[in-house]
Amino acid sequence: MIKKCLFPAAGYGTRFLPATKATPKEMLPVLTKPLIQYGVEEAVEAGIHTMAIVTGRGKRAIEDHFDISYELEHQIKGGSKEHLLDDIRALIEQCTFSYTRQVEMKGLGHAILTGETLIGNEPFAVVLADDLCTNTAKGVLSQMIEVYEKYQCSIVAIEEVPMDQTDKYGVIAGHLVDGTDDTYRVTDMVEKPDPKDAPTNMAIIGRYILTPDIFDILRNTKPGKGGEIQITDALLEQAKKGKVIAYKFKGKRFDCGSVDGFVEATNYFYKNIK
Ligand code: UTP
Repeated sequence: MIKKCLFPAAGYGTRFLPATKATPKEMLPVLTKPLIQYGVEEAVEAGIHTMAIVTGRGKRAIEDHFDISYELEHQIKGGSKEHLLDDIRALIEQCTFSYTRQVEMKGLGHAILTGETLIGNEPFAVVLADDLCTNTAKGVLSQMIEVYEKYQCSIVAIEEVPMDQTDKYGVIAGHLVDGTDDTYRVTDMVEKPDPKDAPTNMAIIGRYILTPDIFDILRNTKPGKGGEIQITDALLEQAKKGKVIAYKFKGKRFDCGSVDGFVEATNYFYKNIK
């Protein structure tokens, strides 16, 4: 049973400057909802109600978003716009939100380790809110939890990307398990490899289920690519013991950490989801 979801949200979001100078990247809206709200909704759909958010300086808007705004509530009560707050109110009622700060931005692996204090000793989900996922049936996290229940080890969501883009992702190698066509036992993982060095074009996207031994591994993980503590390097330790499954999810993913992906997501949601 996965009960908690960790949201590493301490990054600077430099690709969106100047928008992210005083506004967290996770609060940029696709239509009327900030990215992180989509992530929380995906977690709730997967049966998770405890949200653990790793923030940093300048990220207070995230905490305010998942809280009641009494003045606003008072202002719009009984009016035609009141329903616009229905979705966020429902989340606030159903979930608890806790926060911890990453003081130095030493990479995604370090951000996840910072979240240990909120997670404790249990398996947990990780959502990178700037990867916006959508599916007409079950959400991506829901699908991954089903895979976790079967294999009881760390699970990463993967997607095939054009070979010339492997240097933007963690890339896996592995072999299909149990006659499936979407589930791989991972044998190797490389962070942002040059296309010529990439073992495959199967890229890890921003959804993980991690077993708690990852924290001890992360404590001993040296800075890797870009001088950052990489979750890919820590996962490789688990993969060497056959303890990582990569799952080719059903649905669509938009890289909202990039301007192109963000515009694509906005157009897609405007046409299909509005
Ligand atoms: P990214 O590298 O995509 O995010 O990290 P970034 O650094 O915010 O963006 P750019 O490249 O400067 O535009 C992936 C995820 O990991 C989190 C980010 O918030 C994002 O959700 N992260 C990254 C942290 O929480 N802490 C870090 O030290 C690094």
